[in-house]
This record gives sequence, C-alpha cells and structure tokens, in this order.
Amino acid sequence: MKTLFLLLLFCPVLSAVKHSLKLFDTASSGVPDFPELVRAAVVDGILAIYCDTNKQIVEPKQDWMKKIFENDPQHLKLYIGDCFEKQPNLFKVKMYSLKQHSNQSVHILQSMSGCEWDDETGEVNGFSQYGYNGMDFISFDLKTLMWIAPKPQAVSTNLMRDAEKTRIKYCENYVTHICPELLKKYLAYGNSSLRRTDLPSVSLVQKTPSSPVSCHATGFYPDRALMFWRKDGEEIHEDVDHGEILPNHDGSFQMSVDLNLSSVTPEDWRRYDCVFQLPGVKNDVVTKLDQAEIRTNWEKSSDMTVPITAAAVVLVLILITAVGLMVYTKKKAKCPPSPPDDGSELSEKLNPET
Ligand SMILES: *[C@@H]1O[C@H](CO)[C@@H](O)[C@H](O)[C@H]1NC(C)=O
Ligand SMILES: *[C@@H]1O[C@H](CO)[C@@H](O)[C@H](O)[C@H]1NC(C)=O
Ligand SMILES: *[C@@H]1O[C@H](CO)[C@@H](O)[C@H](O)[C@H]1NC(C)=O
Repeated sequence: MKTLFLLLLFCPVLSAVKHSLKLFDTASSGVPDFPELVRAAVVDGILAIYCDTNKQIVEPKQDWMKKIFENDPQHLKLYIGDCFEKQPNLFKVKMYSLKQHSNQSVHILQSMSGCEWDDETGEVNGFSQYGYNGMDFISFDLKTLMWIAPKPQAVSTNLMRDAEKTRIKYCENYVTHICPELLKKYLAYGNSSLRRTDLPSVSLVQKTPSSPVSCHATGFYPDRALMFWRKDGEEIHEDVDHGEILPNHDGSFQMSVDLNLSSVTPEDWRRYDCVFQLPGVKNDVVTKLDQAEIRTNWEKSSDMTVPITAAAVVLVLILITAVGLMVYTKKKAKCPPSPPDDGSELSEKLNPET
C-alpha cells in the first residue's frame, strides 16, 4: 500500500514534459486525534500546501507557494475555506452515508483529484477518485463522463448517485480548464525550482560483505530519473533490484539500484558501472564499481549514512497517514466529483470535490 502510494505520488510519469497538480483529501471518523480532514496539494510530486482541521493553518510548503499567497490573498482564503469548511462538510455528508451501510468503528474516506498537463503537446488529463477504508471506491471516467465503481456495492452507488447528476458538467470543466490553469500558475511561480534539473551525488553502499552493492543517488530533481547497472557498457537486468524514488526533506529525491555480485569474481568487478540519467540532461553520472569506493558499515561504522533523512521520514509519514490507505490502481482520465455549491468561480478552483 505504501509502495503504491509513493509510486503514485513521487514517480508519476516517465516523461520530461508532463506536470501534475494533485489534491489529496483524507477524512476520518473513529480515529483518535486524527484531524477530521487533511488536505495536501502536490505539484509535480512536491508537497506545495498542507492543511488539516486540527491545526487550522494553511501551510505553504514551498517558497513560491508562499509568494502566491502573499501576492494573492484571495488564493489563501480559498484554501482556508476548503480546508476548514467546505471539504470537511462535504466529507461529513459522504461519511454519514457510508456509516449507514457499515458497522465498522473506523472510517477513512479519501479522494485524489487533479490534472496532468503536457507542456509540449498541451494535452490535459484529469482524474478524481475516492477510496474508502483503503479500497478503491469510485472514480470518474472523463471519456464516458460516468462514475465507475470497481466493485459495485450499495455504499458506492449511493455516493455515485449523490455525485452524478449535478456534478458532471463541473467535473469536465474542472479537469479541462480550471485545474490546468491553476497548475500553470503554480508552474510559473515555481518555475525556477520546479523546472530546474539537479544531478545527484552517487555513492556505492554495501551492508555486509555478502550483500548486494547498492548504487545510491541522492539530491536529484526532478523525480523522472533513470538509474541502472551496466556490464561492459551494456545495461543489465539480471541480479538487479530497482528501488523506489523517494523524497528528501529539501525537495530533492533519492533512489537506489542494487546489484547482486555473489556470482561475480573480484577480477570482473571493474566491468560494471552504475549509470544515472535525467531526461533533458546530457551528462550521465557514471560510477565505476570499485571495491575501494564502496561505503560499508562493517569496517567503520561512522561511514554508513542512512539515506533517508529524518525530515523525509516525517514528510512521508504525514502523507502516508493522510493518504496511504487509499489504493489508486488506475491512472486513466477521470475528473473531480462535483460543482461548487456557492457558484463562486474562484472557489471552484480550489474545490474540485465540492
Ligand atoms: C457487522 O460486523 C460483523 C463482524 O464484525 C459482520 O459479520 C457483519 O456482516 C457486519 N454487518 C454489516 C451489516 O456490515
Ligand atoms: C522557466 O525557467 C527557465 C530557466 O530555468 C527558463 O528558460 C524559462 O523561460 C522559464 N519559463 C517560464 C515560463 O518562465
Ligand atoms: C544473490 O544471488 C545468489 C545466487 O546467485 C542468491 O543465492 C542470493 O540469495 C542472492 N542475494 C540476494 C540478496 O538476492
């Protein structure tokens, strides 16, 4: 579940030009101390805004988002309205209907909605889906303009009926116009950080003398990176284990690719190297497999760095708590459930699920 979530959030699309804005909302009932609603707005895999009903603060998580809030107080107000009023109320209603059909004591209802925009082709792709207690629940299909449920059941049809009639038009509009507009605004403000490319520092790490050698890259951006092992200059797949791309606390990313060398003689080690590539960046980072360069922790313990920083762990935990139970298995065109109930255009922008 965590894996699925991280994959979706942090390594979305293998393309140099696709950008995304995703809103993750999580509402719970029966979970002690967990906020009634948690919202995270994520741009290109980077947490941009966080708010929850316990803290009652909308936190911009990036400098460029701070700037948007400063320059456009209306934008901040809309998030305040969404986080502390509209979305909690909306989820309360849906939660009520779910509780009628279930005798569980804990209810977690989550939604992920947003859009992808290809800045070369201009192609736009929207999505909106709900999960309930960790299972796929309903999602909107933009092609047919229908809500679809992976496992039709009383509860989901209820939610669908609730959403279907009045909200489809809004869905379409949100996906094709409002969300991409917002995304472009965020990209313009965050241009220098969101569209930058940073190469990583790469090191070789081995836990025990018999463990695979791990090629570990950290500090790269964006997250659309490739890393692989080569033998005699050719990419190899056998005995190779690819890790996930994970976020660092500073907005950069890290990943590892392990190579099992148990059947390779020491003389042959020099035939291997590890290659890191970022789309759009000409120079690859190539690291030769060299015994002397491998960092270990059985010789000198201080040398072994734990790749994930504490801050990254905290971020991941927050987000896993918030959204980790929701299993998104599809990435097809979908769209947010509902129109705004107050008719305000600006409010619509931040309120795909209302
Ligand atoms: C209520 O829970 C029990 C066990 O926890 C289960 O057997 C039963 O089917 C549930 N009833 C409904 C209506 O979900
Ligand atoms: C974004 O920044 C890059 C350089 O980092 C620049 O070439 C480009 O023109 C900028 N784009 C926009 C839309 O500001
Ligand atoms: C490495 O490969 C050997 C066989 O070649 C296998 O026995 C061993 O379990 C593998 N180690 C890991 C960590 O996969």
